[in-house]
Order: sequence, then structure tokens, then C-alpha cells
Amino acid sequence: MKSKPASRRPGIEVHFGDNLEVLRGWPSESVDLIYIDPPFNTGHRQLRTRFCKRGGEKVAERSYGYPDSFDDFSGFLQPRMVEAYRILKPYGSLFFHIDFREVHYCKVMLDTIFGRSSFINEIIWAYDYGARSKVKWSAKHDNILWYAKDPKHYTFNYDEMPRIPYMAPGLVGPEKAARGKTPTDVWWHTIVSPNGREKTGYATQKPRGVIDRIVRIHSKPGDLVMDFFAGSGTLGESAHSLGRNCVLVDSNRDAIAVMKRRFKGLEVAWIGCGGIAPEKGRGVEKKVK
Ligand SMILES: C[S@@+](CC[C@H](N)C(=O)[O-])C[C@H]1O[C@@H](n2cnc3c(N)ncnc32)[C@H](O)[C@@H]1O
Repeated sequence: MKSKPASRRPGIEVHFGDNLEVLRGWPSESVDLIYIDPPFNTGHRQLRTRFCKRGGEKVAERSYGYPDSFDDFSGFLQPRMVEAYRILKPYGSLFFHIDFREVHYCKVMLDTIFGRSSFINEIIWAYDYGARSKVKWSAKHDNILWYAKDPKHYTFNYDEMPRIPYMAPGLVGPEKAARGKTPTDVWWHTIVSPNGREKTGYATQKPRGVIDRIVRIHSKPGDLVMDFFAGSGTLGESAHSLGRNCVLVDSNRDAIAVMKRRFKGLEVAWIGCGGIAPEKGRGVEKKVK
């Protein structure tokens, strides 16, 4: 499978294949921002089943997903993170999205590759959806580790930060209260609504609101951003709408099929994706363990 970068850079470039192969062929110091959301090593396959109505009955039409169980998760990620470091521009940043199961191991691995001083923030994406545990505290957050290749120089568009209301506006005066305050490293944001327009049906799709915030604040219009665990292509949609160029990679045919539907009408270079048809309609999705 050919995985060389396209000579002409369109708004979006999508590669089908193992990201390690694509990364190893990618030029050094060429990417402004990497956001990745790899499998979380949950120990089970991420699966969604599409249902349709037949003769008034709801019947399973097809299932799609990807494996999410690794004997050596760090061993899988490490060579990819070495390449991520190499291809980042000198002032580039990595945003690494994971959860409580593996975040500590990933932090140690990334500290080794980027250097501890390059670690800038651990962003907690907190949401509030789904069942609650009766035997322990319900885990309702993900962890996003931010590394800047050069901790003294990186893109941080302060003026692009959203404003949120003060908890006690009476204590800060009317002008400040009207402007609101900037968010901290804890981001409250709902998950992708199960029946909203944003939903693609791809397992573990991340919300535009979270991804847009990263793209807006940590890159500039015209920059090159990359997600080499692209899934349904959320970073691509965000980059396109915010005027950034984007490279996406996924090794799952279903992800490519979903992106083909999601990016319909956009100018996209599909590399190694021949023969994969766009996914059809959304149907009714159900998570299957
Ligand atoms: C958590 S999902 C990404 C979801 C995405 N952020 C979204 O919003 O839809 C992780 C993706 O990594 C892909 N993946 C796993 N191993 C890969 C590899 N070696 N090369 C490329 N993609 C891989 C899986 O197929 C899956 O689509």
C-alpha cells in the first residue's frame, strides 16, 4: 500500500493503513499540531451495531468497530510517539487523548520521548452521561496530555479562549463579570449526543466542541494538523471548518467509509482508500460489548 504524502496538499488528506508506516514516510518537522485519540486498551472490541426497520421490526443490519485490547500497549504506542515527535515542527504540540486506565503509563512514556519539561498540561475532559456505578465512583472523564516540543515557544491563542461565567460574579465587578473568565484545565463538555446531527455512529467518536477548542487555541489558520488514529475524522471536520490543513490516518476500513460519508462534498485526497465505499445513512446505533 502506498502511503507517501500527496505532492499537492488539499484541505484534507486521508490515508488508509497502519499509521506507523505513514509516519515513517512523513517529512521531519512538518506538522504544527498533532491530536490523537488512540484505542484506550479497554480490553474489549469497540463495536456498534446498526439497526434498521424491516416490516415494522427493528433488526440488526451490520456491526462495525475496531479491536481495543493490547498485550503490550506501551510497546504499540512508543514507536508511533517517537515518529510524532520527529514530524512535529520545532514549535509544534501534541495532544494525546486517553483515559484513566493507561494515562499514567502514557505520561511516563511521553516524558521519556519529549522530555519532562515539555509536558504543559493534563486536560480533564469531564462529561456527565450514562449509567452510574453502585460499587465505586463513576468514571466520567478522559485525560488529554499536552506536550509542546519546545516548552518556551508554542502556539497558544489566548484570545481564542472561550469565556465562561464567574461562579460569584458579584466579587469581580461588572466589567469582568460581563466578560466572563477563561476555562481551566478541566473542560466540562457533553459527549456526542446519541441522536444529534453530529453523531456519525462510529464507536468512540469525540465531540467537535472539545476538538475545535484544541484546534482554535493551539494552531493558526493555514497550519497543518494531523490525527493518525482518525476514526470518524472529527479532527478533519474541525480543521476544515477552521481553515487548517489536515492529515488523517486510520487502519480500519469502517473508519474510512464513515469519513467518506462525513466529508462528502469536500476536497479530499484519499490515499490508499480505493475500493472503500462511503458508509450509508445513520440508522439506529447500539453499543455492543
Ligand atoms: C478512539 S478511535 C478514534 C476516534 C476519533 N477520535 C473520532 O472522533 O472518531 C481510535 C482509532 O484508531 C484506529 N487505529 C488503531 N490502530 C491503528 C493503527 N495502527 N494505525 C491507524 N489507525 C489505527 C482505530 O481503527 C480507530 O478508528
